Amino acid sequence: MKPSFAVVGCGRVGSALGRHLAGAGYRPAGFSSRRPESARDAAMLAGAPDKWFAEPWDAARTADILLITTPDGVIAETCREIAEKGGIRNGAVVLHCSGMLPSTILAAAADGGAWIGSMHPLQSFAARQHPDNPFAGIMAAVEGDAAAVEVARMMATDLGSTPFVIQTGGKTLYHAAAVAASNYLVTLMAVAVELMAASGAPRQDAFRILKPLVMGTLGNIETLGAADALTGPIARGDLDTVAAHIAAIGNLSPDMLKFYKQMGRATVPLARSKGTLSETAARRLLEMLA
Ligand SMILES: NC(=O)c1ccc[n+]([C@@H]2O[C@H](COP(=O)([O-])OP(=O)(O)OC[C@H]3O[C@@H](n4cnc5c(N)ncnc54)[C@H](OP(=O)(O)O)[C@@H]3O)[C@@H](O)[C@H]2O)c1
Repeated sequence: MKPSFAVVGCGRVGSALGRHLAGAGYRPAGFSSRRPESARDAAMLAGAPDKWFAEPWDAARTADILLITTPDGVIAETCREIAEKGGIRNGAVVLHCSGMLPSTILAAAADGGAWIGSMHPLQSFAARQHPDNPFAGIMAAVEGDAAAVEVARMMATDLGSTPFVIQTGGKTLYHAAAVAASNYLVTLMAVAVELMAASGAPRQDAFRILKPLVMGTLGNIETLGAADALTGPIARGDLDTVAAHIAAIGNLSPDMLKFYKQMGRATVPLARSKGTLSETAARRLLEMLA
């Protein structure tokens, strides 16, 4: 028999966890949220319409697994409050889903005899309801006490995700990696689209024009690694092309030129490690991109 679980904080992640854990055979024990209607909706979604509670400690009291899926800023105080009101069973597993915060913010639950951990689904949850299982095929970072990690791994696997264990002390950098890969890719693409539109290509087609190049590059990084996937003027040491880019972008926007130069400077060491850029050309490029 699968463990029972409670969800406190029935928003996008909490509602999806409730629905899909129940779908995987975990037994809903209780749902609670700031607004009763959120708890009621999540309980309905999990197929357990009578399992919503006004107070989080009442929702949590009998659960084998307590998931605190409030916004990051109130996870610690929510946990403390539940523990103080006797809502955490001895031997229960208490998890949060923040990508940034360590499991140690759940210390109040550990003091009360629970195992603590975190499970961060590397997915963007934009709504409370999804047509499909948003956990299917994604990665989930887990950390915490050994017993909590064991449960988080099992849960992630049962949800259709692939769990991997990270260091508790490495969570901030783990989260920074995710931000760089996702959010900064958006920034990078916005700049590329701007440059493409400024070249005279129809703005509405700019991303479609660039997309096959982007997808091909991602494929090359996957098979070859970042340095060997690098092509283009910096990898070749083509100073004239870089100089022409600097002049053209400089005419367009000082901010975009700053961005281009910054990215170029970060690209030079990659080109050096690939072995296609001479030391002299690298030095000259760094001067141009300063
Ligand atoms: N969204 C994502 O893409 C994503 C991805 C991975 C991980 N996460 C993590 O998942 C966790 C939840 O994020 P989310 O995006 O699901 O947030 P969300 O949609 O804002 O949901 C949070 C829910 O918690 C409820 N809440 C707020 N304060 C509360 C309190 N003091 N006590 C009880 N419930 C409270 C909210 O209230 P109401 O009752 O008013 O509805 C809301 O429904 C966070 O740790 C976040 O970092 C999010």
